[in-house]
Amino acid sequence: MSQPSVLRSAVVPAAGLGTRFLPTTKAVPKELLPVVDTPGVELIAAEAAEAGAQQLLIVTSPGKESVAGYFEAAPDLEKTLEARGKEALLEKVQRAPGLIEVKTVYQYEPKGLGHAVAQAEQALAEDEQAIAVLLPDDIVLPTGVLNRMIEVRAEKGGSVLCAFDIPKEEISPYGVFDVSDTGDPDVKQVHGMVEKPSAEEAPSTFAAAGRYVLDRAIFDALRRIEPGAGGELQLTDAVQLLIDEGHPVHIVVHRGGRHDLGNPGGYVRAFVDFALQHPDYGASLRTWLQERLEN
Ligand code: G1P
Repeated sequence: MSQPSVLRSAVVPAAGLGTRFLPTTKAVPKELLPVVDTPGVELIAAEAAEAGAQQLLIVTSPGKESVAGYFEAAPDLEKTLEARGKEALLEKVQRAPGLIEVKTVYQYEPKGLGHAVAQAEQALAEDEQAIAVLLPDDIVLPTGVLNRMIEVRAEKGGSVLCAFDIPKEEISPYGVFDVSDTGDPDVKQVHGMVEKPSAEEAPSTFAAAGRYVLDRAIFDALRRIEPGAGGELQLTDAVQLLIDEGHPVHIVVHRGGRHDLGNPGGYVRAFVDFALQHPDYGASLRTWLQERLEN
């Protein structure tokens, strides 16, 4: 069977002010904060490339050009590192520009995630039938869930979202799914999606986890939604509209790990988790942490 061109473009909404990381985000976009030594957005770009995406559409706002700029080659730096025989560093520096083609689209007003994703449409080729969306705050581990989501779309059509099963009392910051089972325990059909419900109102404990494979019909739905939770144009409400109109929507329940880089508490955990696995820093960090926790 020939592989449908489901995933040429991966959209990364990165236009926010990063208020939870002020004052740093006065000068550095949160997407460029390092997880050990690598900006979070490079982890996202690598995941998109691994899923077969050829272009990364970074939705940005004026003043945050450095996020896309990070993916440009740095020929002077490369020459210097080469001349000094710093092969390993050279490889690190060349990795991001070699991962995937990067394009920028602008979101000029902070009108919500749905509005951010809508800006990507202008950069798509006419024959692109679906897009991936990766929220750069969310690190989903191990990578690979997008590939599974693409398979599910090939099987069932429509749109496929990634979900985590999380405790009910932690559900309200998320988009939450009303689902029914399919033959596969990790794939569920979605009958409704609600953004940031209270724990009592949440239709399940399956929460959207920042990875989406969306049929192109999402753009038409995004044009027709009204401001929802928080007064913002919500991607969740466009997904609900697709469901209302009979488009198939499924979730892949990811049973792995997750980090939220969008707030300092989650970021610190991600940093420590990645550092503990790092060949240079892991062992000494572990020893230090153990000592530190005992005192
Ligand atoms: C966004 C989405 C929400 C999703 C969450 C995952 O919310 O609107 O549906 O569950 O990302 O991180 P945000 O975190 O931007 O408020």
